[in-house]
Amino acid sequence: MSTSFANRLNGSILLISSMFFGLAHGVAPKALIDDGGMVASRSALATEIGAQILADGGNAIDAAVATGFALAVTYPSAGNLGGGGFMVIHLADGTVIANDHRERAPGAASKDMFLDEEGQLVKGLSTASHLAVGVPGTVAGLLDVLARYGRLDRKRVMQPAIDLAAKGFVLDRDLAAQFARRQDVFAKYPASVAVFANEGAPYKMGELFVQTDLANTLRRIQKHGKAGFYEGETADLLVAEMQRGGGLISHDDLLGYQSSWREPIRGTYRGHEIVSMPPPSSGGILLVQMLNMLEPYDIAGMGYGSAQSIHLMIEAERRAYADRAQHLGDADFYPVPIKELISKEYATKRFADFDAKRASISADIGAGEIPAESLETTHASVMDKDGNAVAYTTTLNLSYGAKMVVAGAGFLLNNEMDDFSAKENSPNAFGLIGRKANAIEPGKRMLSSMTPTIVRKDGKPLLVTGSPGGSTIITTTLQVVMNVIDHGMSLSDAVSSPRFHHQWQPDRVMHETYAFSPDTKALLEGMGHKQLIAIPAFYGGGIGDANSVMHSDQGFQGMADPRNAGAAMGPGQLGQ
Ligand code: GLY
Repeated sequence: MSTSFANRLNGSILLISSMFFGLAHGVAPKALIDDGGMVASRSALATEIGAQILADGGNAIDAAVATGFALAVTYPSAGNLGGGGFMVIHLADGTVIANDHRERAPGAASKDMFLDEEGQLVKGLSTASHLAVGVPGTVAGLLDVLARYGRLDRKRVMQPAIDLAAKGFVLDRDLAAQFARRQDVFAKYPASVAVFANEGAPYKMGELFVQTDLANTLRRIQKHGKAGFYEGETADLLVAEMQRGGGLISHDDLLGYQSSWREPIRGTYRGHEIVSMPPPSSGGILLVQMLNMLEPYDIAGMGYGSAQSIHLMIEAERRAYADRAQHLGDADFYPVPIKELISKEYATKRFADFDAKRASISADIGAGEIPAESLETTHASVMDKDGNAVAYTTTLNLSYGAKMVVAGAGFLLNNEMDDFSAKENSPNAFGLIGRKANAIEPGKRMLSSMTPTIVRKDGKPLLVTGSPGGSTIITTTLQVVMNVIDHGMSLSDAVSSPRFHHQWQPDRVMHETYAFSPDTKALLEGMGHKQLIAIPAFYGGGIGDANSVMHSDQGFQGMADPRNAGAAMGPGQLGQ
């Protein structure tokens, strides 16, 4: 188990023993329903801003961008200006497109930059140092998406985030506790202490949280567009921060950053179309690959939570994640065999050694032969009444990224460089390993697991979903999609139901406590599945945070993942 993943698990157990927030499972909260569109995100304040944009005549793209900027203010552990993200968009005319604003390695980055003279990884260098920071992409991405597909202008869409930063908002228990728990890691950087402590003492629930420097940075972006971040005062402050701690990002890196428009990954599953994120994310490819492996089997007949369906899913996950390690990286730098990996023929071949009675052993599962070749992140889903839909996942990588606020600019920097394979076959913070495809190169984007996904039926968006959770993002998304398509669950049940995760290496199954009944567990162990590790799915814990939106005969349904403190809201719920 990687240290930070282990810490997170231990952290959630500690959290639970020290404060009771309530069970995520039991009676699942109901999805909200509205006819005017829907927004679901990890932050109630950010969700409300998106819903207000829909009420004011904005479309799903305007609402997603406004929610994105608001998350940078109200959910700083993952919402960001100093990180990156992916947006998958369905337009009312049926067009699908993806915006990639993933961070890039600085121009001065090099393959072995996180190794010592003996070629060993230097602990913490890729996660907790100025070298950990990739060139941020979020501002370029959000503004490019808005300019191309939005209906409202930058001033309108950004103003709510500016107001929240400048006037402040009252901290709830969730956020106040998050800041308090991290006082020691923020202590390394005076600018971080200045933001996340209240004159040196931990913030308490109910106190006003004002972010003046962040408000001024947002105002510069609102006024000058991308130049308000990648040039001028903000860029000077960011480069000065890098120089203070031996970081690599230069003015040229910032000036050279551009978001990329990409063709989404497209697959099919039992008469539905799956539209998801292509490289530099592994999410879309793995999602489609796993669904292709599972499609020939009668999952619905086996039943939700049956040992046989769990066994099938684990074996599909094992093979897909083995392929990830070998074949996936930034397709602008490495020939990722996308077409082969997402083909039904490849899935049939790859799954040919599946044994319905026996678990495979990960050490025996190499990468498939190809003819050619967050813990923190956050996800928001939006649909509007005109038929547009947006799946948006954004991240600083680990919670609060590098924990480093740019002095004078008020925003946190990412530690996304850890998502590269710093050394072949050595695990990153999520226990994921990689090879040449994901080696560090100047200007390259690090491989991601983010899986913003739109499921379409008859050409229309049915479900918008995705999740944070590092390596567990893809399997969380897989389970929400299968819960809806295979098991016919309501959105509320599809998002709330307990989850499990396997990622090939390490060869173990993490599961939320109630995902496996004792007899199911015994059956899985009898098949040879090793290390079934239960983790509690209490508030603030569990696997994933799949804030999702679905369209049904009843209208737009929004469901914030009950594992956390998010919210769903449509324009009809404003002011209620
Ligand atoms: N930083 C987590 C991911 O992009 O997968």
